[in-house]
Amino acid sequence: MPIIFHEKSRQFHIYNEYISYIIEIMENGELGNLYYGKKINDRESFAYLHQDKERSLAAMATDSQSNLCLQYTRQEYPSYGRGDYRYGAYKIEQENGSTISKFEYVNHSIYAGKKSINPLPSTYVEDEEEATSIEIYLYDKIIDTKLILTYTIYEERAVITRCAKLIHKGEKPIVLANAMSVSVDIPDKDYEMIHLSGAWARERAVKIRKLEQGIQSVYSMRGASSAEHNPFVAIKRSHTTEDCGEVYGFSLVYSGSFLGQIEVCSHDTTRIMLGIHPDNFSWRLNQGDEFQTPEAVMVYSDEGLNGMSQTYHALYRNRLVRGYWRDRERPVLLNNWEATYMDFTEDSIIQLAKKAKELGVELFVLDDGWFGTRNDDTQGLGDWYVNKNKLPDGISGLSEKIEKLGMKFGIWIEPEMVNKNSDLYRTHPDWILSTPDRFESPSRYQHVLDYSRPEVIDTIFNMLDRLLSDSKISYIKWDMNRYITECYSRSASSKEQGTVMHKHILGVYELYSRLTTKYPEILFESCASGGARFDPGMLYFSPQIWCSDNTDAIERLKIQYGTSMVYPLSTMGAHVSAVPNHQVNRFTPLQTRGNVAFFGVFGYELDLNKLTKEEQEQVKNQIELYKKYRKLIHEGTFFRIQSPFESEDTAWSVVSKNKTEAIAVYYFKLNYANAGFVRFKLKGLDPNKQYQLILNDKECIMYGSELMYAGLPLDRNKEGKKYGDFSSLLFHIKEVR
Ligand code: GLA
Repeated sequence: MPIIFHEKSRQFHIYNEYISYIIEIMENGELGNLYYGKKINDRESFAYLHQDKERSLAAMATDSQSNLCLQYTRQEYPSYGRGDYRYGAYKIEQENGSTISKFEYVNHSIYAGKKSINPLPSTYVEDEEEATSIEIYLYDKIIDTKLILTYTIYEERAVITRCAKLIHKGEKPIVLANAMSVSVDIPDKDYEMIHLSGAWARERAVKIRKLEQGIQSVYSMRGASSAEHNPFVAIKRSHTTEDCGEVYGFSLVYSGSFLGQIEVCSHDTTRIMLGIHPDNFSWRLNQGDEFQTPEAVMVYSDEGLNGMSQTYHALYRNRLVRGYWRDRERPVLLNNWEATYMDFTEDSIIQLAKKAKELGVELFVLDDGWFGTRNDDTQGLGDWYVNKNKLPDGISGLSEKIEKLGMKFGIWIEPEMVNKNSDLYRTHPDWILSTPDRFESPSRYQHVLDYSRPEVIDTIFNMLDRLLSDSKISYIKWDMNRYITECYSRSASSKEQGTVMHKHILGVYELYSRLTTKYPEILFESCASGGARFDPGMLYFSPQIWCSDNTDAIERLKIQYGTSMVYPLSTMGAHVSAVPNHQVNRFTPLQTRGNVAFFGVFGYELDLNKLTKEEQEQVKNQIELYKKYRKLIHEGTFFRIQSPFESEDTAWSVVSKNKTEAIAVYYFKLNYANAGFVRFKLKGLDPNKQYQLILNDKECIMYGSELMYAGLPLDRNKEGKKYGDFSSLLFHIKEVR
């Protein structure tokens, strides 16, 4: 049993082969943290790891002679105001105006497996043997409220998940003003914070900064996890690299507003918290009501950032993503967006589809513009029925024609949104989130439907259900193209307005749940103006997410590199698009565009009919190559080798689990004259295995040790003469038997 309760010392040791997490019941009944990190041997008591001290200006937690001072003690789920002046993990407002609370240990239960926190998304187990969980029950007798802290440790992974639940028993209502999913106190501050931040079209750039006394945070108050920050933070030692050194990752399984905050106190303790953003959140609990926080997933690695990412990848790929498509090879798709935008006819779509089929595409996706009066982005959202002017035989007719060509068919929807110029809005103007008497800020001419209202979800579900049952639809791209403003629900009382943002996301999850339950074989790809909602919450419902509206191969190197910190390649939608690129006007070789998009869920987003015969042949070969290796790419172990954030060039690879095969790519950025030599050192191979590969057009055989430690000698100038700027070299490496 990898969770032990030591009765005498009143300590919990949660551990497996890789990690240990140790909690104590402190003398005042609250929970303290004694250790989190690489596995340490178990013993009856780790009391020596408890540190506290009476310092000047310190307020003490007991009347006794002890030194228990909450400000200087490491805690498990701390509260503000009883001696600890740091930010608390939760805050409860009471009828008498007090916000002071204290949850003391009552008992606990340890069990095999892991419970779901439905309707919230979470990681799961398929067999109870995979994980052990503990629920620790705590109680505040003054307000008569229970707090349950749940921890799950996976047997074979360096992963602990956490969440908290409050159950209010008291007669007087309370208001939850904050409830983080996780709070961990680490004994020193010699770390750097890593986060994935950016904006539209440059999502999830890797940012690293040194921790200092005070607060450093990332957050979204946009009602979606956002393009600006991802619900993920990590701390690493300054000497930690991609391949060695310690790192602690914290990832939130949630798609709404969030806060990831790291506070370093006056005496260099580091407190990491992650959860729903407390601003615009307040949750009233009447007698008998409960509140469940989302799940946070903590990963520890002492094998560098690659080690952390590989643990997240394996967990999210196999125990967060669910359903029919989890383990199936994903179809190569052609999306018409950058080929036609909204300007298409059935005939032009069929012409595109025919060429796609000829070149090996398996799924045709019709993007925005097929419904209502949607001829531009000022109208139509909310009217999920076909525009017969454009598609005289409807979606059902078109879907049949595409299937007859021998491809699957998919469509784009944006079910959370409405244009004011739509039948839905004209019938239900009160269904948008907006504050009475205030200006309703438009964004892309659209407004957010109030998904905290069940009747809104029902109406959209029924429209989509009709569409899906009438047509042959195998894939849905679910988009979300604006953030929430003037957040207010006309169906909620004044006291309930603080629940609306969270209830809205729960509503989104509900629609996802209803659709994926009724149509389990439809492949869902989530999207939000590109990658503005690339988070673990979404992955629970859609196994893949469109990474970014930026389809330029060179920009994509950064976006996909950053995304890979947490998310596996099998989740990243990546397409080859036209040149000059529509976002940055750059020309890149078709080969490099393919070599970048291979490292994701591969597809095309351009008019294939406009390519030359040679280019079409190249596309055909790319698709063949991808089909051959997509299993390896999606199921193998991904290694980041050279960072586009730290150097001109980029490199990465995927190695099969048994190390018999790998795909590796080296991407050159700008070419320049008389350049030095390059050594491409691979990772993750078996040093003693012999591998064959093609280098400089010649077949050669090398040991894994040669490939990893001596590296492949590359000549930028030589490649540059072939391709100029933005060239790339892909190596397929296979064990010689
Ligand atoms: C968003 C998506 C794009 C495309 C458009 C359609 O921007 O990210 O891929 O679907 O919407 O309007």
